[in-house]
Amino acid sequence: MNPNLSQFGTQMSNLTGVRAIMKDIIETLRTGEGQDFINLSAGNPVILPEVEQLWRDCTEQLLASSEYGEVICRYGSSQGYQPLIEAIANDFNQRYGLNLTERNILITPGSQSIYFYATNAFGGYTTSGKLKQVVLPLSPDYTGYGGVCLTPEAVVAYKPALEIDEKAHHFKYRPDFSQLTITEETGCVIFSRPCNPTGNVLTQEEVKKIADLAASFDVPVLIDSAYAPPFPALNFTEMTPVFGSNIIHCMSLSKAGLPGERVGIAIGDPKLIGILESFQTNLCIHSPRYGQAIAARAIASGALAKISSNIIRPYYASKFDVLENTLDQSMPEELPWFLHRGEGAIFAWLWLQDLPITDWELYQELKKVGVIVVPGSTFFPGLREDWSHKQQCLRISLTASNEEIEVAMQRLAKVVQSVYQRSTVNV
Ligand SMILES: Cc1ncc(COP(=O)(O)O)c(C=O)c1O
Repeated sequence: MNPNLSQFGTQMSNLTGVRAIMKDIIETLRTGEGQDFINLSAGNPVILPEVEQLWRDCTEQLLASSEYGEVICRYGSSQGYQPLIEAIANDFNQRYGLNLTERNILITPGSQSIYFYATNAFGGYTTSGKLKQVVLPLSPDYTGYGGVCLTPEAVVAYKPALEIDEKAHHFKYRPDFSQLTITEETGCVIFSRPCNPTGNVLTQEEVKKIADLAASFDVPVLIDSAYAPPFPALNFTEMTPVFGSNIIHCMSLSKAGLPGERVGIAIGDPKLIGILESFQTNLCIHSPRYGQAIAARAIASGALAKISSNIIRPYYASKFDVLENTLDQSMPEELPWFLHRGEGAIFAWLWLQDLPITDWELYQELKKVGVIVVPGSTFFPGLREDWSHKQQCLRISLTASNEEIEVAMQRLAKVVQSVYQRSTVNV
C-alpha cells in the first residue's frame, strides 16, 4: 500500500531534527555488537530515586482516594484537571506575586503539543493568504520547533551574536537585536529558556526586549520553560520566569520525572489560552488525567519544587562540572574549542571553531571510538542561510555517569586533536 499523501501528510510523516538522528543512533547501538558505546545523545532524563519515589507516593495517594474513578474512568474538561489548575495558580500566585485564575491556565499532553497548537494557530497562512512567521529569535534552539508547524516556510530563525572568552575556552550566544525583526508579519515568537541544546539562559532584559518588540504588534511570545524553575529548576544560574500580557509561559513536567505521562502547562492571557484550548479540543479532547492528578498532589504539597531544586538541579549541575573539568584537562590549549556557558538544561554544547570536517563527519569519527553525541547542525531549525558555525557544534547529554562522561570527553579530545592535526598536515 502506497498512500497518496496530502501536503500536511508529507510534512508530518517526515522525521525532523534529532528524531531523524535517533534512528541512526538506535541502529548503531543495535548493530555495534561487542562495542560498548558511551551514549551521550540521550534527551531522556535519568530516573533519580527520590523523584521516582515522589511519583510513586503520589500514585499511592491517588489510588487510596475516592477520586480515583473520577480521574481515570470519566472524561474531563479540555482545559485540564481542576485540582492541577488550582495547584498551579496557587503556587505561581504565591511564588511570583501573580493574580492567575483558572482562565489563565491550560494543561496539554506534554509541552510539545503547545508548540504544535501555537505555531499553527498563530503562524502559517491567514485567511487572506498572508504568511505569518514563527520567529525563533536565538538560533540554535530546540529542534522540535522545526517539526511542529504545518507550514515549514513560516519558521524563521535569527543568527545569534557570539560572546567569546578565548582564554577560558567559553562562549555564549546573545540575541542579535540589530537583525531580529518582529513585524505585523510575525505570527508568534518562541524560544527555550534555559535552552535545549545550548544551556543558554536569556537575561531578564533580553526577554523583556523581545516581549516588548512583539507586544507592539500584538504578537504572542511563547517562553519554553521546559527546564526552568520552579520545576524542574534546571537552571544553574539565577533566573526568574518573566510574565506579561503577550507572554505564554510554557512548562513541562517531563524533566521533573514525568516524561511518560505527558504533562504540559501553558500560562497566559485567557484569550490566548482559549485559542490553544480549542485547538486541543479538536485534536484530542483533553490531556490524560492520571498524570495530571499525581502532578496536582506533587505541586500542591510543594514537594515537586523542593525535589527540583534539592535533587534534580544539583544532579545535572555536577555532571556539567565533570564535563567541563574533563575538557579543560584533556583538550589541547592551542585549539579553538569553546564550551557554551553551562547555565542550565541537561546538555553541554561544544563549538569547534574552523573544524576541518563537518559535525556529521565528526559524529561518525566519534562513533568509531565508542562515543555517541548529537551533531549540532540539527538544532538550527528555521535558519536557512549558510553559516559554517552550524557544522561546528556538538550537543553532549549530561545523562551519563561521571565516569562515562570523563572517558567520553577524553576520547573526544583525542579525536578532535587528530582531526585538526590531519588538516594541518594536508595543508
Ligand atoms: C526545550 C524543549 N521544549 C519542549 C520539549 C518537549 O517536552 P514535552 O515532553 O513536555 O513535550 C523538550 C523535550 O526535550 C525540550 O527540550
